[in-house]
Amino acid sequence: MISRTTKAMGPSQALSGLALLLLLVASSASVLNDTCKSFGANRKDIGYDYCVKFFQADKASAIADKRGLAVIAAKIIKATASSTDKRISALKASVKDKKVRSGLEDCDDLYSQAVDELDAAAKGVAAGTPQGLQDAVTNLSAAADAPQTCETGFQELGVKSPLAAEDFEFTKEVAVALDVTSSL
Ligand SMILES: *[C@@H]1O[C@H](CO)[C@@H](O)[C@H](O)[C@H]1NC(C)=O
Ligand SMILES: *[C@@H]1O[C@H](CO)[C@@H](O)[C@H](O)[C@H]1NC(C)=O
Repeated sequence: MISRTTKAMGPSQALSGLALLLLLVASSASVLNDTCKSFGANRKDIGYDYCVKFFQADKASAIADKRGLAVIAAKIIKATASSTDKRISALKASVKDKKVRSGLEDCDDLYSQAVDELDAAAKGVAAGTPQGLQDAVTNLSAAADAPQTCETGFQELGVKSPLAAEDFEFTKEVAVALDVTSSL
């Protein structure tokens, strides 16, 4: 009798647990969607789909609230800045042209600084205080200048940027983070 009751309750408890989890995931997925809808409206040039795809790089975004999404964004972009910095180091080792090398040196500095700024931004958002959030926006805005400054450097040197694709990608990613963080 007891064992039959236990058997009967097992699946139904599991089911209600599953229903709760689905509800949680669904409601959070709409936090992500709402956040990206607002981003898509503010930045039609980059758009909603880009924003959703960007966040999907981190599974935690499916159950994050808005502040969680801002932290996740800073972390994803920090990883992008790190890998861009590695790519720049590799290029520096192989490029012979003096002008291109000089442009790469500057971009190297810009992206390593961006890594620190994004780290600071993630911490500020995680702290959640008005000061922390304000500092995070400042840090993100500073990081957001890196790709444009990098590109301008190559233009002024009169050489083709070997980092055009990376700079373009970083610009779009930071735009997402800035939009979400400024709205907190
Ligand atoms: C969120 O957006 C994705 C892709 O745009 C969609 O598949 C999903 O159904 C949406 N979820 C909610 C809860 O609106
Ligand atoms: C982040 O911004 C704050 C406020 O402007 C500043 O004090 C701090 O040095 C910045 N952090 C980095 C790593 O740039």
